[in-house]
Amino acid sequence: MAGFLDELEPLKQTALAELKAAPDLAALEQTKGAWIGPHGKFTALMKQLGSLSKDEKPAAGKAINAAKTGLEAALAERRSELELAAALPKEPTDFSAPGRRRTLGKLHPLTQVTEDIVRSFRKIGFVVADGPEIEDEYHCFDALNTPADHPARDTQDTFFLAKPENTQHSTLNSQLLLRTHTSSVQIRVMAKQPPPVRIIVPGRVYRRDNADATHNPTFQQIEGLYVDKNVTVGDLKGTVEFVFKELLGEETKIRFRPHYFSYTEPSFEIDFSNALVKKLGKEWLEIAGCGMVHPQVFENVGYDPEIWTGWAFGFGIERIAMIRYGINDIRLFYENDVRFLKQF
Ligand code: DAH
Repeated sequence: MAGFLDELEPLKQTALAELKAAPDLAALEQTKGAWIGPHGKFTALMKQLGSLSKDEKPAAGKAINAAKTGLEAALAERRSELELAAALPKEPTDFSAPGRRRTLGKLHPLTQVTEDIVRSFRKIGFVVADGPEIEDEYHCFDALNTPADHPARDTQDTFFLAKPENTQHSTLNSQLLLRTHTSSVQIRVMAKQPPPVRIIVPGRVYRRDNADATHNPTFQQIEGLYVDKNVTVGDLKGTVEFVFKELLGEETKIRFRPHYFSYTEPSFEIDFSNALVKKLGKEWLEIAGCGMVHPQVFENVGYDPEIWTGWAFGFGIERIAMIRYGINDIRLFYENDVRFLKQF
């Protein structure tokens, strides 16, 4: 018995020392095996318990259990030390090294152009207005004096929506559609507030076009509407000129060509010219539609056309962005390829 206990203590000390000295987790597992694994030295010692006498067994059992608990505690402690060390960086930390910067996102080129246009108009007192993309025929066409036989009212040109069942649709029970232009917001704003009005309306519009290099079934427009007393075509021209020069450069020239829109009279198309247009091999490029608000439109929203006058315009944002950045395919705007988007 004395021999057994004498043997136990030095074995335990050696085992403890080896566990503490294990240089890494793999070595620790090996040391564990060598001592308390099925064929370990300590396990062998436990097997000798059986050969002791009845009197000796309790004390020896107690001693051996205490030693085993001690070894297991030492094993657990060394294991957590080694795990912590394995998780630490291999190289010392250099606190003077520059930090890793997270790459910042960018605004989409169409958003940038829209914000530039909005900024220009804000300088001259315009505010941004908004309206629904799911519109009805009344706001999109009828109230804008657009006759029933106009091509935009055909299912070939416009996305009409099925009538929702059991819903009381307010305005004249007219059919729902995806708005074909932002001009519908003119009606919504004027119907809600008395003149004067000075708004711009950036927004998405929808047409039944097949996508190609210059068309897409969804695109963005900006609408402008100005209503006050004694407003003239001169005001319209001066405003458009100011904004386009801000947007496309001081040397930009604009010209008005007579045109037809049912909600303006007279109506014009706006062409502009600058170095970018010349680079495309052209003298003028058509950019927008505009005109003096038709008296019938004022009647439709309850403004007295004998008192109030106004102008309106609308143009496509993609067109301007394509010219400004030299982009030759409109579909690039919608693919969300970061390699394209991060160039602007
Ligand atoms: N709504 C027209 C379009 O989508 C653009 C337009 C023309 C808007 C003349 C206007 C306007 O406000 O007066 O092509």
